[in-house]
Amino acid sequence: MISKKMKASLASSSVIREMFEEGNRLAEIYGAENVFDFSIGNPNVKPPERVKTAIKEILDEEDANFVHGYMSNSGYPDVREAIAQDLNKKHGLNLSFKNIAMSVGAGGGLIVVFKTLLDPGDEVITFAPYFGPYRAYIDDCQSKLVIAESHKGTFEPDLATLEAAITPKTKALIINNPNNPTGVVYKEDIIKGIADLLTKKSEEYGHTIYIVSDDPYREIVYDDIEVPYMLNYYTSTFAVYSYSKSLSLPGERIGYVAFSPEIEEAEEIEQCLSNATRNIGFTNAPSLFQRVIVKCLDETVEVDVYKRNRDLLYNHLLSLGFESAKPEGAFYLFAKSLIEDDKEFVKIAKKYNLLLVPGSTFGCPGYFRASYCISYDKIERSLAAWTKLANELNK
Ligand SMILES: Cc1ncc(COP(=O)(O)O)c(C=O)c1O
Repeated sequence: MISKKMKASLASSSVIREMFEEGNRLAEIYGAENVFDFSIGNPNVKPPERVKTAIKEILDEEDANFVHGYMSNSGYPDVREAIAQDLNKKHGLNLSFKNIAMSVGAGGGLIVVFKTLLDPGDEVITFAPYFGPYRAYIDDCQSKLVIAESHKGTFEPDLATLEAAITPKTKALIINNPNNPTGVVYKEDIIKGIADLLTKKSEEYGHTIYIVSDDPYREIVYDDIEVPYMLNYYTSTFAVYSYSKSLSLPGERIGYVAFSPEIEEAEEIEQCLSNATRNIGFTNAPSLFQRVIVKCLDETVEVDVYKRNRDLLYNHLLSLGFESAKPEGAFYLFAKSLIEDDKEFVKIAKKYNLLLVPGSTFGCPGYFRASYCISYDKIERSLAAWTKLANELNK
């Protein structure tokens, strides 16, 4: 018999799975081109051409046993050093390869950080709405995810609510900036406020409260908005990065964790991230793609494609009376559902072949998420369906 814990996790992951199955069912009936799947964050913008040429160069020029072989659990030292120098150049830091651990995407990076930090009974805070898998990652460390509501409407963190959520058991705060599911970018004043509060609380409780900065959307921002780099604001930070979105490589599972050389127990942390990568069974991040990304450090996907999608969808939804913070980054729009029950709203949307995710999946009922990382053409063809949905519910 399978584990009770896994069985329980099936129930909580059923919304996205059902949506996936529903998409396939509707595609069979109406044709894939007539199903408007806004449910999944799978990038549709092509990886930069350099990714392809880098793969070819590596396979043609390097020794195959070296390219596909094992290496240290935290990754190739030269790859880690190149990433450290790139971060130093971009953010004025002082990192070396010792401060970089290659990871199996952002998800893999988050897990090894939590394995490094958490003891059973510890608490980790995040702001709602939040990326659902955080709960499973924290749960797996026998720790507790504590939710601090953000300001409804703007979806910026509420410092008073954060302060109230901190207890002597708080070990870390997860920040996801730019944010999934809201598309909101936290600006410098908010980041400084959070850093000051955690510094004060760490002193008050006599132990460090860490920040885990989940950054897979760092480069996906619009209108020249700056995303503050957390390592510049708070020493006890783990910056978790991934190339899943910035290079459109989600299936290749490549990312890294960066931390400051000034963090307490820096040497042990380096060892722990490495051990956690091995113990969890990842062993190391994918070897070929470590070498690929090092050749692509100055590359990003065409962010303007997402911006065009955002403008089209956001403007249409606003014209229909939807309320949403204007997404400034990532490729998600998080809007108030037109009826209170977000699950019922998503069900009604399906009648018009619109596949959405209810806000309750992200700990925020009464809202829904639309991922606009699909083709512009498809969004354009979906507009009539959105209009019909609004007409039905705005009566
Ligand atoms: C907020 C957030 N964190 C982490 C991840 C996981 O990223 P990866 O695919 O690199 O593991 C995602 C993926 O959608 C995400 O949206």
